[in-house]
Amino acid sequence: MADRISVLIPESTLDAKIKEIGEKISRDYAGKEVHLICILKGGVFFACELAKRITVPVSLDFMQVSSYGDATKSSGIVRIKKDLDDTLENKEVIIVEDIIDTGRTLHYLMPLLGYRNPASIKLCALLSKPDRREVPIEIDYLGFDIPDEFVIGYGLDYAQKYRNLPFIGVLDPDEDLMEDPAGEEPDTEEEAEPEESVKD
Ligand code: IMP
Ligand code: MG
Repeated sequence: MADRISVLIPESTLDAKIKEIGEKISRDYAGKEVHLICILKGGVFFACELAKRITVPVSLDFMQVSSYGDATKSSGIVRIKKDLDDTLENKEVIIVEDIIDTGRTLHYLMPLLGYRNPASIKLCALLSKPDRREVPIEIDYLGFDIPDEFVIGYGLDYAQKYRNLPFIGVLDPDEDLMEDPAGEEPDTEEEAEPEESVKD
């Protein structure tokens, strides 16, 4: 049976908000050029839509980082899986991320990129879960604050699936899949949880 998905933020609402952020960035950077850094993989849908809405000249680069931890707890250990192709020297940098959860990934990444001498560095995130924050993070351009729920779509995945949904949804795992077909006691939550997983 398929997983059940309920819509949290519909496509039209996302479109309208991204247009609004794009216009704000275009105003704030009037007469300048912006260098967008898309954080792979989750940020890619948002970064593409946002870039199309910015009217000042845009250059794009990509970075992939992994924060280790299970679904509910981030360890704060971040690894660069793919570094940027271009230098940040004297550029007006905007980091584009899908979601700020504990804040640990960007808390690590922002100062690291700051050492590469950009003219300025700002953070733009489509979503934020303020109730989950473990370290302080200033988000310069934010789409939506959302409640503490696991969301998918618009770049966000569950086990690498659902990134292609055109809306932000909440996944209700299929209860049938959680039943043991042999009729034995289901695994305890602790046993079923992966020891380590990569969030990107
Ligand atoms: P943070 O370091 O805890 O802020 O983790 C941020 C990363 O965790 C995001 O870039 C996502 O890849 C992942 N993440 C956090 N919350 C969700 C969610 O609700 N759905 C999908 N991925 C998430
Ligand atoms: Mg991510």
